[in-house]
Amino acid sequence: MDSQSKTEEAGFTPASRIAAIGVSKILQIGARASAMKKDGLPVIILGAGEPDFDTPDNVKEAAKAAIDRGETKYTALDGTPDLKTAIAEKFRRENNVDYALDEITVATGAKQILFNAFMATINPGDEVIIPTPYWTSYSDIVEICGGVPVLIPCDAEAGFRLKADQLEKAITPKTRWVLLNSPSNPSGAAYSEADYRPLLDVLLRHPHVWLMVDDMYEHIVYDGFKFVTPVAIEPRLKSRTLTINGVSKAYAMTGWRIGYAGGPKALIKAMAVIQSQATSCPSSVSQAASVEALNGPQDFLKDRQASFKHRRDLVVSALNAIPGLACRTPEGAFYTFSGCAGVIGKTTPKGKRIEADSDFTDYLLEDAHVAVVPGSAFGLSPFFRISYATSEAELTEALKRIADACAKLA
Ligand SMILES: Cc1ncc(COP(=O)(O)O)c(C=O)c1O
Repeated sequence: MDSQSKTEEAGFTPASRIAAIGVSKILQIGARASAMKKDGLPVIILGAGEPDFDTPDNVKEAAKAAIDRGETKYTALDGTPDLKTAIAEKFRRENNVDYALDEITVATGAKQILFNAFMATINPGDEVIIPTPYWTSYSDIVEICGGVPVLIPCDAEAGFRLKADQLEKAITPKTRWVLLNSPSNPSGAAYSEADYRPLLDVLLRHPHVWLMVDDMYEHIVYDGFKFVTPVAIEPRLKSRTLTINGVSKAYAMTGWRIGYAGGPKALIKAMAVIQSQATSCPSSVSQAASVEALNGPQDFLKDRQASFKHRRDLVVSALNAIPGLACRTPEGAFYTFSGCAGVIGKTTPKGKRIEADSDFTDYLLEDAHVAVVPGSAFGLSPFFRISYATSEAELTEALKRIADACAKLA
């Protein structure tokens, strides 16, 4: 009996808007890996989507001070003036983009920003173009809001980046948004100004299409990669672009739940309508902490970047030394998205044939006790994602186990 009929048997039928949406493969793998760990198996989990650093002390202190000042009540609906001012300064200082305070919104994580934006703009059947591999929440949120995700495969040879001709072909009269994420979860690929330019030219020719960019991993880039956000390249698109960012990844603040965006005033106002009936406002204490994160010292970001780069290099070279795997060097984020075409068709020591990347990641979990996520979870196969936001010792051990497991395939 599948889970749907089980819930119906118990007298519960889910709403049609979530009927096609299951619990994400990432969460399923995480739950299975945690259960195995609880049973005493030495499982290494390389699935976490968060930095292994702590929130900086100055940020924690700012939160404590806010509590002591009594900032523990509802705040302005979509962000305190202090935080919006800090965000406006951040956009100016780091991105060379001017957003007025009424062009800025703050929500309970960038995830809620995405949710507010799609809820506020999508009519049934509206299309959202999403290059794959993509962060799984994108398509699920679009579907919950009644939209149609239009997934465009962007392979390793293309640097996991969308190309102008692909974008041009995907646009229809029903296209509402194009959603770009750089650096990307899961591929780590990032768009330089030269990569963005042809895409922005396509958008200039299609005034009914809006651009949503997710800059969440802006501060985690390597080898001198110059991060740039589309509105800074093409100001003519500013009136139909939503520039999303947040404090989760840069400042190791995933649990504080603060995300923000800059965009045209009318859109920001419509998003506030959704937020007003969903959460009323983001956490007051977390907003005070985020003011300090954005206004306070930024130099520690470089050290953290260097630490991630060291681990990226370790993982990429270990993966590329394993016959059957091929890993492109990512420009940013803390993920590798490695091809595993060379192990498809092989047989495990227990006699199971590996037909797909999910069979390979199941094998790694069961036999090597390493939890990674198959490319199919992100809309592109055959690949698998490693999050290297964990200790070097764990990474070294995990990669040794992956190499041994691959060597045992016949
Ligand atoms: C690409 C991307 N965007 C947005 C988010 C959500 O971030 P937040 O913690 O602000 O909701 C994530 C989290 O994994 C992500 O990977």
